[in-house]
Parts: sequence; structure tokens; C-alpha cells
Amino acid sequence: MANSGASTTTSNNKRRLLLLLVAGAVLLAPASARRRPVRLRVYMHDIVGGPGQTAALLVRGPGPENPSMHPGNYFGDTVAVDDLLTEGLAAGSAPVGRAQGTYMTGSMSRPVFVVSVTLHLTAGPYNGSTLVVAGRDDTLEPVRELAVAGGTGALRRAQGHVLWSTARVESPLHAVLELDVHASVPVPATTTTRGTAAAMMAASHLSQV
Ligand SMILES: *[C@@H]1O[C@H](CO)[C@@H](O)[C@H](O)[C@H]1NC(C)=O
Repeated sequence: MANSGASTTTSNNKRRLLLLLVAGAVLLAPASARRRPVRLRVYMHDIVGGPGQTAALLVRGPGPENPSMHPGNYFGDTVAVDDLLTEGLAAGSAPVGRAQGTYMTGSMSRPVFVVSVTLHLTAGPYNGSTLVVAGRDDTLEPVRELAVAGGTGALRRAQGHVLWSTARVESPLHAVLELDVHASVPVPATTTTRGTAAAMMAASHLSQV
């Protein structure tokens, strides 16, 4: 009898705990699950020398020389960038920000860069906001996936990924990368329906996808 009573109490306690957890999840879900999509497509102009240079070798890597790359590229080479972001593929199209950070030759055998850049947007609905992008850029792959690790301003707590590809090689010194951002940000609890609609309409202005 004593055993059966104890086990009934235990099972009641478990049921109560389960109910509490379910109630907690229901209460928390609407606020934490509401996220607004962020879709952006921008073009990044990486100019490593000559007129209009925006990227410079910061650290000469200790090597060895990477056999998959042009001679003179060493494992650990790190380039600092302040690359122009434009709305379209052409360097002369509307500027929308800068990509600032670094990329490092991160493989001894493949042409792989480990990228860490912050996109500082200076136009459109996210003017003044940043997106933090990090990941592995294996240039042998047509499309690479990097992570959106976070953001600031209107992009605070952004999460998602970037489809990263080489859109055009203008010259050996000037590559144009396409950054296709698929991310989301939490909807603040205080955001009104009208505010969300306005933000979404504004967002559709910059995002061309
Ligand atoms: C972006 O914001 C800055 C600072 O508020 C402002 O001076 C600038 O005109 C804005 N740029 C665009 C393209 O809206």
C-alpha cells in the first residue's frame, strides 16, 4: 500500500510538472517565436590593390604556401577589408554600406577563407544597423553558406545565414561578391501591427528578392 501511495504521489507530481511546463511553453511561445524575416541582397566589392583599394594584407601568414591558390598565398594570410556594399552588381550602383573586418586563408590545401565581417548598412530601412557575418568561404564551391551571428540597431539579435557567391571578377584585384542574406529578427513585444507593416514595407524597398 505504502509503495503504491508513494508512486501515485510521484506520478501526480510528474503530471503537475508537465502541466506547468506546457503552460510555461504556451505563455512564452508567442513572444519568443515571433520573428520578422530580413531579406537583403547586396554586392561587396573586394579590391585588393590598385586604384580604389579597399582591402589590404594585414598579416603575412607563416605558411606553408597554399598550392591551390596563386603563388605567394600563404596559410594564415589575413586581409583587412573596408569593402563597399552596393545595391546592384555594378560598382557604380547605389551604395548601401561597407563590409568591415577580415578574411584569413584558413586551409593549407584549398582556396578557403575564414571570413569575419560586419556589414554596416547606410541606406534603406536598416540604415545605421549592422549584421555580423562569419563563416567559411570555400571559393571552389559556387555558393557558400556563412552564418549571420548577430546584429545591432534594427537588426539586433539577427539570426540566419548568408548565401555567399562570387558574382563577377572585374580584374585579378577586384572581385564582386553577392551576399544573399536570409535572416530574421525578433519582433519587439511593444511593436504595433501598424509598426510591423511599416517596417515590412520599408524592408521590401531595400531587399530586391
Ligand atoms: C542614413 O542615416 C544617416 C544618419 O541618420 C543620414 O545622415 C543619412 O542621410 C541616411 N542615409 C540614407 C541614404 O537614408
